[in-house]
Amino acid sequence: MLRIALLPGDGIGPEVIEEAKNVLAAAADRFSIQWQSETLDLGADRYLRTGDTLPQADFDHLRDDFDAIVVGAFGDPRVPTNIHAKDILLGLRQRLDLYVNLRPVRLLDTRFCPLKDRGPADIDMAIVRENTESVYTGIGGHLRKDTPHEVAQSIMISTRMACDRLLHYAFQLAGQRRKIVTLCDKANAIPHAHGLWRRSLAAVAPQYPDIEARTLYSDVAAMRMVTHPQEFDVVVGDNLMGDMLSDLAAALVGGLGLAPSASLHPGSAALYEPVHGSAPDIVGTGKANPLAAIMSVAMLLRDFGHTAAANAVDAACENAVMSGSTTPDLGGNLATAEVGAYICAQVAAA
Ligand code: IPM
Ligand code: MG
Repeated sequence: MLRIALLPGDGIGPEVIEEAKNVLAAAADRFSIQWQSETLDLGADRYLRTGDTLPQADFDHLRDDFDAIVVGAFGDPRVPTNIHAKDILLGLRQRLDLYVNLRPVRLLDTRFCPLKDRGPADIDMAIVRENTESVYTGIGGHLRKDTPHEVAQSIMISTRMACDRLLHYAFQLAGQRRKIVTLCDKANAIPHAHGLWRRSLAAVAPQYPDIEARTLYSDVAAMRMVTHPQEFDVVVGDNLMGDMLSDLAAALVGGLGLAPSASLHPGSAALYEPVHGSAPDIVGTGKANPLAAIMSVAMLLRDFGHTAAANAVDAACENAVMSGSTTPDLGGNLATAEVGAYICAQVAAA
């Protein structure tokens, strides 16, 4: 029994999760997958109602009672500090030790590529972002806050353990792909925290002799992703480098509307979410593109061994894109629920 926690969250989150859930149901039906889901009330509404962000009881429930978590989006203009999003999303990444953030980026159609003369053969990469360290831990503080002499500090950390485990994941993934790992860092300017990544790479890479290990400074990587995207297969970066490069890479294939992701602790915990945010400006208009959430569900199905179901969902998303059966952001004129229904019908007939 596949037990899935649904965290629709804020803004368009509930709208895209509704379609992701429908697609899961369609795939489960077609491919005889036993599953159950529970929707958890976590997000801005609950925070404004009760002051709760991610209470211990909800965290324990998420950790103990589910195989996978599917997240919509967090972020609400009524909570300008975004404290709930930070506690829930960054909190789950930390507390479940979801150290891999996997963001596959594949160009489905030339139409969606802002680069001249590039097609699907040129852009197929997987961003493997470290998801628990760098400047994301919250370590830091202020001195003399709100005075002209204020000092603000956000500390970047890298641990050898975290570099090693992420690189092992990246090399194993590259073994199933084009066999190139490119570590992107700023070891030239950040010699301690990012120098450690290079030393970790030097130790891990020889254990995978059939995989080519490359290094690039992240600024150069940003440039080459635009000028030579075909050079990238598995792209590794720390939390901050991976955050930026994954948005850049997503822009090469049509933007965040087509960007799924997984935050993983292989073997123990998994969270799937579209990379996009809560888009409060289009809530309730039917314009929210559910494809990134649905493609995230395909990643979930694949990770749990339901390969045929995952392939069917991915193929259906590709058909939606190729046939223009999409929301307006991708050039179509369907509403969120109509895109979901299109995918469900395709999966049912697969
Ligand atoms: C992402 C987002 C988050 C991040 C924000 C919302 C904190 O940009 O998932 O990429 O930086 O990790
Ligand atoms: Mg980001």
